[in-house]
Formats: sequence, structure tokens, C-alpha cells
Amino acid sequence: MNLNQPLVLRSGVTLKNRLIMAPMTVVLSFHDGIVTQEEIQHYGMRSKGLGAVITGTANVTDNGKGWPGELTIATDDAIARLTELSAAIHAGGAKAILQIFHAGRMTSEKTIGEQPVSASSVAAEVPGSEIPRELSENEIEALIEAFGQATRRAIAAGFDGVEIHGANMYLLHQFFSPHSNRRTDHWGGSLEKRMNFPLAVIDRVAQEVAKTSRPFAIGYRLSPVEATVPGIRFEDTLAFVEQLKTKPLDYLHISLKHFTRRANSQAYQEKSELAYIHEAVAGVMPVIGVGGVRTKEDVEALLENADAAAIAQQLLVDPEFPLKVTGEITDDPVSKPFGEAIKDLPMPHPMFKYLEKRYK
Ligand SMILES: Cc1cc2nc3c(=O)[nH]c(=O)nc-3n(C[C@H](O)[C@H](O)[C@H](O)COP(=O)(O)O)c2cc1C
Repeated sequence: MNLNQPLVLRSGVTLKNRLIMAPMTVVLSFHDGIVTQEEIQHYGMRSKGLGAVITGTANVTDNGKGWPGELTIATDDAIARLTELSAAIHAGGAKAILQIFHAGRMTSEKTIGEQPVSASSVAAEVPGSEIPRELSENEIEALIEAFGQATRRAIAAGFDGVEIHGANMYLLHQFFSPHSNRRTDHWGGSLEKRMNFPLAVIDRVAQEVAKTSRPFAIGYRLSPVEATVPGIRFEDTLAFVEQLKTKPLDYLHISLKHFTRRANSQAYQEKSELAYIHEAVAGVMPVIGVGGVRTKEDVEALLENADAAAIAQQLLVDPEFPLKVTGEITDDPVSKPFGEAIKDLPMPHPMFKYLEKRYK
């Protein structure tokens, strides 16, 4: 796969190349989730040389907020500044995709001012987790509607698409996981029923997208496995992918710590999780891979098993990394080694502090 080849999505949205900024919450928004000037700058300086920028995740309701300083798209008040954000991304030449989510149980009473909610009343196996309240059926319907309203706002704010965040242990992932979903109604009880909430969200988002005449993409991000018992097994994800293939999605984004990672299932050890999923959806929709891309060689290796490469942390430390990869900058073709670059960064906000700790 040539990384400079354009990627034409199902909706007609066209990415000029195969490089994508991965979603990263950098807690630069105001306390109420409204976009700040610093945030516009942050994305503007990182949108050159990329096919698309996927923003950090935006909560679709107030009780879906994961952290203070995260983006919101829960009210119409957010549209004006989000419009400035999409314009800054477009000015750099990239398509602008807004990631939308609900944190579910992966938040705290301190952050949202009430008990967190989830599919079932089961705490995450993560230190400090709080026991969530089980959502009622009416609340589930209201949340599906909230994803529809978020999509309407993303369209109004000039974005080229939304990415539905079904990965990284947040609410959609929680409905799919047998760890967090112990329900016995329409929304849980079997592998098939655990798919119902994410599939209903996709349908509602697609309904909203059908109302616009301009090309607008719908992506879906998932985490293929979970470490807990019970937890999502790779076989479950392959069955889910078969259902996702029947939906009007523009792409599937596989969330991985490293793009070469192997599955936690004995039956799937011959190649990477990304390679198996890419093979399963081949010809139906493109697959975006992510995780551990630090060099041009990494991009090329990832593109052996995916249609586009998403880059997260390397773009934090080197905003011009894509231009070096595509050959638009030739005088400084080598990015600093990641660990060194992170040490040289000014540390303007807590996420960088977290990265500094992780990479020192
Ligand atoms: C600071 C930071 C914030 C992140 N926020 C999000 C997010 O909002 N949504 C999401 O799906 N993934 C998020 N991620 C995960 C990244 O998109 C990516 O999958 C991960 O960092 C691995 O890619 P990398 O090795 O290129 O960093 C975040 C990662 C980092 C480092």
C-alpha cells in the first residue's frame, strides 16, 4: 500500500493520503467542554501532511464526560467553537473527523457530579473505579438519541465525519463486554444481544447523516480484546465485525497498543489481530490501524495489514512527522527518537505530564 495514495470512503469523503491523526484527548477544552484557542492551535499545527485528523473524544451527554478538559458535543452551544476547530483542521489540508463517545463507568462522581452509569452495576477492574448505576431501558433509548443529536451538531460544525468510539473500555465497549454487561433484556444476555446497543447507535447516527446532502463519513473504533475474565475474546470481535460489515460505515478503526499485537486466543496466533480483521473486512470497508508508529518504516509495516495508519503520540512530540513521512520535508527527514523528544517538550497540560512519566 502506497501511503501517498488517496483513500476514497463510501460516503465520498476523500482522504489525500493514508496518514491519520489518531484521536487524543489532550484536556485543553474549557471546564464545560467548549473548545479553547489553545486547542484550535494544537490541532491546526498538527493537520499538515495528513489525510484526516480525528479529534479527541467528545462526550454526547454531560454524564458521559470522562475527564475535566475533554471536548463536549452535548449541546448546541458547542457548535460555534467546534466550527472553528474543523476550519483549523481544514486549513492544514486534512479532513476533520470528530470522535463521539460516552464514558459510561470509566469516569467518577467527582467529574460528572453524579454516580456514573453503565450497562450493569459492575465496577471496572481498574484501581479507583466506582460502582456504576445500571441504565434503565428509557435511559438507553435517550443515549442512542444523544448520539444522533451529536452527529447533527458535528455536521452543523463543518466536520467531514464522526467516529463512534466503541473502544478503550467506554460505554459502547461496556455494552459489548460480558464483564460490564450482565443484563438479560434486549441489551444483553448473549453475544448477539451485547451487540445491540452499539449497532443501534450506528443506525441512529446513519439516520442523521442521511439528512445531509454533503458527503459525511461514519467510522467505528473498537478494541478487539479485553484482559479480564469474563471479557471480550477475539472470536467475539470477529463475530461483531461481521455485523458491522452490514452497516453503512466508512471505516473500521482498530484500537491497539501496538499494530503488531497478537490476539489472546489460541486459535488466532498466526498473524496480528489487525491482519485478521483486515482480512475479514477486505473489500467491504477500509481498516485503520494504530499503535506504536514512530517512523516511516513503522507506517509502511502497518500498511501491510491496513488501509490507513493512525498516529497518536508521535504527532504530539513532532507535529511535522507526517510531512517527513510523505517527503514534503526533506531537510530534516529523521524525527527525534520518541523518548528524547518527549523530554524536550514544554509541558503545558496534564496529558503531557502523564506521557513524560510513561516515557522517562
Ligand atoms: C494523550 C492521549 C489521549 C488519548 N485519547 C484518546 C481518545 O480520546 N480517544 C481514543 O479513541 N483514543 C485515545 N488515545 C489512544 C490513541 O488514539 C492511540 O490509540 C494510542 O495512543 C496508540 O497509538 P500511538 O502509539 O501512536 O500513541 C489517546 C492516547 C493518548 C496518548
